[in-house]
Amino acid sequence: MAGDGLIDPWSSDDETDYSRIVEKFGLDMVDRSTIPNPGMLHRRGIVFAHRDLDVALRSIRDKSPLGVLTGLMPSGRMHLGHSMVIEQVRWFQEQGADITVAVADLEAMATRGTSLGSGREKAINEYIHNYAALGLDPDSTSVYFQSSRPDVQRLGFMLGRRTNLSEFESIYGFSGETNLAHVQAPLVQVGDIIHPQLDEYGGLRPIVVPVGIDQDPHLRLTRDIVGKTHWFNIKPRKSGGLTVALSVQDDNARLLGVGDDGRIDRETRDRIFSRISGVVASLGFADMNANPKHGTLEIPAATIEDRAPMRMALLALERELGGMGLMPPCSTYHRFASGMTGGKMSSSKPETTIFMNDSADEMARKVKRAISGGQSTVEEHRRLGGDCSKDIPYQYLQFFFELDDSALLEIRREYESGRMLAGEMKQLCIDRAGEWLSDISEKRDAWSDRLGEFLAPDAM
Ligand code: TRP
Repeated sequence: MAGDGLIDPWSSDDETDYSRIVEKFGLDMVDRSTIPNPGMLHRRGIVFAHRDLDVALRSIRDKSPLGVLTGLMPSGRMHLGHSMVIEQVRWFQEQGADITVAVADLEAMATRGTSLGSGREKAINEYIHNYAALGLDPDSTSVYFQSSRPDVQRLGFMLGRRTNLSEFESIYGFSGETNLAHVQAPLVQVGDIIHPQLDEYGGLRPIVVPVGIDQDPHLRLTRDIVGKTHWFNIKPRKSGGLTVALSVQDDNARLLGVGDDGRIDRETRDRIFSRISGVVASLGFADMNANPKHGTLEIPAATIEDRAPMRMALLALERELGGMGLMPPCSTYHRFASGMTGGKMSSSKPETTIFMNDSADEMARKVKRAISGGQSTVEEHRRLGGDCSKDIPYQYLQFFFELDDSALLEIRREYESGRMLAGEMKQLCIDRAGEWLSDISEKRDAWSDRLGEFLAPDAM
């Protein structure tokens, strides 16, 4: 559906040009040195880009609240590709974050025709079962269904006022023929991403959404919409420092001191300004230039570092005054592991990936057929060495199965020097993958009767 320059989150056949996307959509590259206790996917550069990850990392550092929101489409079987997000979710959970899992049963109905009943069954017995086996802790994990959480739907509906069909056309490539349920799905996803910040779901705190790059359009939409709801904007000041500027809108005009006639009501405006300066002063700034008439407050000594805590404090004030006070979501992006036969992984093409419950034999058969970076003859291989960048079994060890960095490096050296042959690489991958799958399978068995522990009360 998407034409040039668009990412289509519902398609599985376009090749990913990471650097073009990073540049075009303004993602930041992950700086590994800023991540405390980096996980395997961080250390190996697989989680490579982000938006506002520093905000989430600050919460980890300060041990202040941090939420993670992830979502799953309950269609098809869970495979290795899906497990990458869960690996990141688990990492955030270990760093103290609380976890919310959205079952996108409405989206699956809208885009795949999956009934709510079969979506529910799939979500619990296929996905959540494997999430448990992958190590999510039910004590701080809460799974809900889009179809049974009215707060999410209400948010999606309300925030729909802040966007329009043209934006959907340009983000998603929607057109006149697009089914209206499909048009609603991204708004429900905006609701998913935003709602953990509502007071009933943990309140104002940064929410990070780890995704594959295909989901970035939803994050851009969410961030764009959230930006439009803000009552107070914080901008860098031209001559240094930061400026807080009022954003007067229909629903806050009176509160921010704009009368029905458009005139500024000095008394109300001054009262708002004293609240804002109070917040800024509480962050430790004494020097401020207020211009209530223009709706700006300059803080010359503030730096870009102060922006995030200041935004948080002003969002709290916005909430006190009756606004939504929403933080833009943070996000991280991982590279996709290649499909085993080249191309992309896809649940609908079983030969392209390994499913979480594939038998050892099925797995071994796929690894043996996988694309190899070996040379065409043994003599040539010994002479030139294998090419890890083309070798799927190596890549799967790197992405999934070899947890030990130094062992992985050793494998790479052996292969590139030609000492290890392509068949030996495949066998190594089969051995490690076999251990991995049987471990997951044992853990699945241990969790079979306990999946209810993951469900939110409204998902029971
Ligand atoms: N659209 C996602 C997918 O296709 C599922 C999803 C729904 C989701 N809501 C979400 C993902 C919120 C991340 C965050 O898999």
